[in-house]
Amino acid sequence: MSKFVIHGGNKLVGEIEVKGSKNACLPIMCATVLAEGEYILKNVPNLRDVDTMSRLLERLGMKVERQENNVYKIINKGLTSVEAPYDLVSEMRASFTIMGPLLASQKKAKVAMPGGCKLGTRAVDQHLKGFVALGAKIETKSGSVEADAEGLVGSKIKFDFCSVGATENIMMAAVLASGETVMENSAKEPEVVDLGNFLISMGAKIEGLGTDKITIQGVDKLKACEYGVMSDRIETGTYIIMSLITEGDIKIKNSNLDDLPGFVLELKKMGVSFVQDGGFLTVSGDLDKLKNTKIATMPHPGFPTDLQPQIMVLLSLIGGASEIEETIFSNRFMLVPELNRMGSSISVEGRKATIQGGVKFQGTEVIAPDLRAGVSLVLAGLVADNTTVVNDVYHIERGYEDLVGRLQGVGADIKNID
Ligand code: UD1
Repeated sequence: MSKFVIHGGNKLVGEIEVKGSKNACLPIMCATVLAEGEYILKNVPNLRDVDTMSRLLERLGMKVERQENNVYKIINKGLTSVEAPYDLVSEMRASFTIMGPLLASQKKAKVAMPGGCKLGTRAVDQHLKGFVALGAKIETKSGSVEADAEGLVGSKIKFDFCSVGATENIMMAAVLASGETVMENSAKEPEVVDLGNFLISMGAKIEGLGTDKITIQGVDKLKACEYGVMSDRIETGTYIIMSLITEGDIKIKNSNLDDLPGFVLELKKMGVSFVQDGGFLTVSGDLDKLKNTKIATMPHPGFPTDLQPQIMVLLSLIGGASEIEETIFSNRFMLVPELNRMGSSISVEGRKATIQGGVKFQGTEVIAPDLRAGVSLVLAGLVADNTTVVNDVYHIERGYEDLVGRLQGVGADIKNID
């Protein structure tokens, strides 16, 4: 199994390019089930999760070709299966988002229940509630959800709380339903908007993207299209923190700060300034002058949960005590024990973590517990004394294309050892 070996302390300088958004790309790939034809997707990141989604589409009878320069061609000549098996859904929860497109285009689907994950229980009740409202008959049998719908009918759905996956799944089911669907309390995340724009390029009629009320007029038929995936805002946030903690000068290319309002607001309150110049974003803020803070993760436009572990590393380095409340996932502080082994002083009580700042990280051997916690250990390693070894980096490879190569490109001393 591969691991990253990092010798900390290098000032990182140079350009780094943000790749396409993993979380936008995965549901967009699911949406190619909705209509036969040939799709060209641009700005697709080369990641393990994209490979897993490609395998799922191929199991359904489609063809996925990875071309040069992050372009993928997806060919749908009609499906040969409507089943998403457990091996793929358990490997990647986002596979469950295939259910809406399967139901809409094939009128039936059999998708394994994703089960829990390290971040918490992660139920799919809101997804199922939406499908039932559209007229699907749902049965849960032997660990799978089996759904049938002779024809979905538009309906009014009010989610009990914001769910990115449920909003996406129901939106993809509703685009081919007859009549109007109104989804209230929908997720407003930019990745939901990107999926909506992709569906509009296919001929769907959708209004209210980016608001909590999305209205869809069902159409009879959609068509294949060409589309460029949005840039990955979580990668952007990760590199912003990397530039700050290494007191470096990283020029971030292909970013869009408008997608990160809650994150930018918190960093500005701490004293960070942002400059966007000629396609490059740079940030500045001296670690000994930045102010400690209290942050609560929230659905968009609030502070994203997917940047919570990374900001914990920054807050550990600045003076004073800070607090993080995690309101989205029930178990998202797995980074804490590993980071404390590297010298941070963080205590957790329920959904709140208190961070005593002003520490100096010491390199040691750690284990990446998941994707975002894993990349946060890399961040800590970049500024730690001595050598840090991060194990189980396959988690990190799920969401960051060639992280090692790109960090080496800005001067980091990091190697991937098998
Ligand atoms: C997506 C992102 C993930 C991000 C999360 C929140 C993808 C592939 N993943 O995950 O990186 O951290 O949004 O921004 O896009 N919930 C239920 N019942 C449901 C659905 C969700 O209880 O039917 C709960 C979840 O357990 C979680 C919360 O709602 O506690 C938010 O989950 P959701 O927004 O659905 O996240 P995902 O779409 O799984």
